[in-house]
Amino acid sequence: MRIGVIGAGSMGGILARHLAKLGHQVSIANSRGPESLTALGAEMGATPVSVIDAAKAGGLVIIAIPTRAIADLPSALFVNVPSSVVVIDISNYHPELRDGRIHAIDRGMLDSQWVAQQIGHPVIKAFNNIFAKSLLEKGVPRGRKGRIALSVAGDSLDAKAAVFRLVDDLGFDPVDGGDLDNSWRQQPGTPAYCQDLEAAALRRALSEADRNRIAEYRAEQEARIRKSMAAQRVEE
Ligand SMILES: NC(=O)c1ccc[n+]([C@@H]2O[C@H](COP(=O)([O-])OP(=O)(O)OC[C@H]3O[C@@H](n4cnc5c(N)ncnc54)[C@H](OP(=O)(O)O)[C@@H]3O)[C@@H](O)[C@H]2O)c1
Repeated sequence: MRIGVIGAGSMGGILARHLAKLGHQVSIANSRGPESLTALGAEMGATPVSVIDAAKAGGLVIIAIPTRAIADLPSALFVNVPSSVVVIDISNYHPELRDGRIHAIDRGMLDSQWVAQQIGHPVIKAFNNIFAKSLLEKGVPRGRKGRIALSVAGDSLDAKAAVFRLVDDLGFDPVDGGDLDNSWRQQPGTPAYCQDLEAAALRRALSEADRNRIAEYRAEQEARIRKSMAAQRVEE
């Protein structure tokens, strides 16, 4: 499959590398332009392109950039992209640590609903609730005991089915996270967030989440990250 990856950092880089290894034709873009990705692209087996060309790459596009940067993407980026193209949003909104306040989300819009609104194209939420290190190291073949499960949320069943296949190919058990209106269940700090759970435990965690606690979950997750960053600084 032809896949465009927008974002070549921790997550975009790992996804591009693994997808290229699986035989997909991967194009990759960052904010600084394709020239800055020449060496990395060659090493990972992906073609460096502009953001505009990554969005037009083909059947599937992965957006792997900080949430606040989504508002900086070229306007009309997806205007001529066919509705059949699956766009995966892997972003997590971190208002205090990175993104600054996005008022629509603070007022109750879900992270991925805001992303879909910004880009003007439906999105599937996936890969947001696994840390880069686990994505890099913990994929295993189907049927292996302890295989980590990843939830996939979105409104199109066909698009979700395509993402389920990708998740499986990458070494994880796909779990249906419901429609996009349920995607808050896998947002930062929820029981289903970055716990490396197996499928049954992930389904349980998704169902145990409390919609009234979205902001609290997020704040708790930011506090955890802050604490772990402080501990790392002490170790250094
Ligand atoms: N790291 C994790 O463990 C993890 C796990 C799950 C989800 N996520 C989410 O995944 C997203 C990416 O995280 P990351 O850790 O991979 O970030 P990262 O390592 O900081 O990489 C960010 C990438 O986004 C690119 N970028 C920034 N603004 C851009 C723009 N306007 N247009 C095109 N590219 C742009 C950067 O390109 P330049 O370097 O050229 O600016 C860089 O390649 C975030 O939303 C994050 O919350 C992260």
